[in-house]
Amino acid sequence: MKILVTGAAGFIGSNFVFYEQKLHPDYEIVGLDSLTYAGNLSTLEPAMENDRFKFFKADITDRDAIFKIVSEEKPDVIVNFAAESHVDRSIEDPGVFLRTNILGTQVLMDAAREYGVGRFHQVGTDEVYGDLPLDRPDLLFTETTPINTSSPYSASKASADLLAMAYHRTFGLPLTISRCSNNYGPYQFPEKLIPLMIANALADKPLPVYGEGLNVRDWLYVDDHCKAIDMILSNGKIGEVYNIGGHNEMANIDIVKLIIGYLGKPESLITYVTDRKGHDMRYAIDPKKISDELGWSPETKFADGIKLTIDWYLHNKEWWENIISGEYRKYYAEMYDGR
Ligand code: NAD
Ligand code: DAU
Repeated sequence: MKILVTGAAGFIGSNFVFYEQKLHPDYEIVGLDSLTYAGNLSTLEPAMENDRFKFFKADITDRDAIFKIVSEEKPDVIVNFAAESHVDRSIEDPGVFLRTNILGTQVLMDAAREYGVGRFHQVGTDEVYGDLPLDRPDLLFTETTPINTSSPYSASKASADLLAMAYHRTFGLPLTISRCSNNYGPYQFPEKLIPLMIANALADKPLPVYGEGLNVRDWLYVDDHCKAIDMILSNGKIGEVYNIGGHNEMANIDIVKLIIGYLGKPESLITYVTDRKGHDMRYAIDPKKISDELGWSPETKFADGIKLTIDWYLHNKEWWENIISGEYRKYYAEMYDGR
């Protein structure tokens, strides 16, 4: 089995490479990434030690490059993690989100059709369903919840999902789609809530909480997302969408308090800042389909996963300190100074 993993140098893509190498030592894995600000080749160093792993620096919107790689490597499966993934950046500059997330997915699917790749898996997000009210805990996103996007990011991801379904129906491309809730764990870029709060707390910097901090996200440890995708690749039904989430809803402010409590920092670091435009209130996944049909269930409880994650950032400072000392500084100043 040979899997082409796009976005392999990003947060979930790299964790998926490690997960597959451990679970299926016989698999050949081809990592592909254009190494945007969010991609970090050093993350993949442990994977490179395995001679069944190969890496290509390529942009998924570059048709010639993608066709060449797919025709030469002949993967059995393509798993598409490559994307622009940060909602705040999509509000500042939507263009690159449409290009990568929609047109890049099209290029990959065209290559899969052209060279008869046996399976395409599109990594989607629960954000395509919009949001849920705080006062209706009974409401959860199912696979039939209407698409109702809020941000340019979620609109671009929903477009990719719709295009994928169209490629399946029109061209018979054998594909599956997963829609996961918020992930956390090692190697997450420090622009996202959990690593940003850990890095700032360690530096005794203000912790910028949007609005009142009451927005709810449904957190899943990254390995449990990888496990779900692996199970979908093995037993998922072609043409189906699978929601992934572990019933772990938490308000942002509670996450922030948990992090500062664990690190022994004062709550006075919490700073309420102007809310995100169009900010989704609550996400909550109903994982019944993947649980019933594929037997998936999450293995890491949030109380354990968050400690593992904070400890990872404590012990791998060089990984994220390199990032926040570079180009990211400019982004941080533009996004947060005077907010
Ligand atoms: P990330 O931003 O950490 O990683 C994305 C990777 O894609 C980076 O390595 C980047 O260099 C690469 N990339 C971007 N544009 C590219 C292009 N044009 N060509 C090739 N590579 C390109 O994102 P992530 O959090 O790891 O998310 C991975 C996927 O999972 C995305 O599709 C995202 O929408 C989805 N997802 C993320 C979450 C989450 O909580 N992080 C939850 C559900 C779904
Ligand atoms: O639900 C899945 C999605 O989760 C993925 O599709 C996205 O790729 C991923 O980035 C994530 O999106 P969110 O917008 O939910 O994640 P983020 O970490 O940016 O924010 C989580 C919550 O924390 C959100 O309510 C906004 C808030 N927040 C975020 C940042 C960066 C803050 O209050 N302060 C911050 O500085």
